[in-house]
Amino acid sequence: MVYETDSDVPATFPVIDISLLSSEDELQKLSSILSSCGCFQAIGHGIPVEFLDKVREVAQQFFALPDEEKQKCLRAPNEAEGYGDDLVVSDDQLKDCCKRLILGVFPEHQRRMNLWPEQPTDFGETLHEYALKIRSVINGLSKAMARSLKLEENSFLNQFGDCPAMGARLNFYPPCPRPEVFGAKAHLDRSGVAVLLQDKEVEGLQVLVDGTWHMVPVIPHALVVNLGGLMQVMTNGMFKSPLHRVLSNATKFRMSVTVFDEPEEEREIGPVDHLVNHTRPRLYRSIRNFAAFNYECFQKGKNSLEELRIPLIPEFAG
Ligand code: OGA
Ligand code: NI
Repeated sequence: MVYETDSDVPATFPVIDISLLSSEDELQKLSSILSSCGCFQAIGHGIPVEFLDKVREVAQQFFALPDEEKQKCLRAPNEAEGYGDDLVVSDDQLKDCCKRLILGVFPEHQRRMNLWPEQPTDFGETLHEYALKIRSVINGLSKAMARSLKLEENSFLNQFGDCPAMGARLNFYPPCPRPEVFGAKAHLDRSGVAVLLQDKEVEGLQVLVDGTWHMVPVIPHALVVNLGGLMQVMTNGMFKSPLHRVLSNATKFRMSVTVFDEPEEEREIGPVDHLVNHTRPRLYRSIRNFAAFNYECFQKGKNSLEELRIPLIPEFAG
């Protein structure tokens, strides 16, 4: 895949004040951005910037620990959670220049506590508190998204079940002198919604909109909201889950913290009934365990959403 790169475009990345989503105008803005771009920067989320800085701080403190301390959280081969870099799946694979700490946060009883850092000592409580706050941001957004499409506000939340999962991915991008290596290769997120806390100084995240990569500018008090593939499936393609990637930086370290929601295990997720009709036929098959499917497609260089697409029957084609 070759895409035009256009990083010189002025920083016009969309920003939404999510405290205003009770107003019809702001809801319309939300649905128009999600239908075209699938990603925006959220302000008005109510999380104090001091607390966002605290989250950044514990993440950096963990990453700054000596290797033998970080190894205590090491991801076992073929496991999803823990600390490490890309799984090696083929000989010619070009690994991303990134170390990740991946942790399941909710449901709490499924936490793999042996993989949670003991240092810094307030890591666990900080991540717990942050994930609670992000859960409430995501739930509020999910309801607003449903309302913006004239759906009952729990239409998306209900599909995820009473006890949905939340995960955290802490990304550490060391300086990398090889520009052909990515911090993270282009991918689609596996979630319903992913909320990303960016580095305060160093940019690097790019989102593909209409065939052009757009750099997401740094706004220290904002949260980047990015729709995962499941939201594109549930909205029957009305909202987009964008491909995104992270450029490597030759001289600077960058970090980010992503918190994302996922359905209860074994839940089958498909387009919401009200978004399937004669003029808008069903676009996607329903799917269980999209996370695994999405990862498998990514490894094969395929787009998971294209793979889930139901071919148009001639009546609807053209
Ligand atoms: C992710 C991701 C981007 C970033 O965690 O899925 O896309 O800027 N992160 O680190
Ligand atoms: Ni991502």
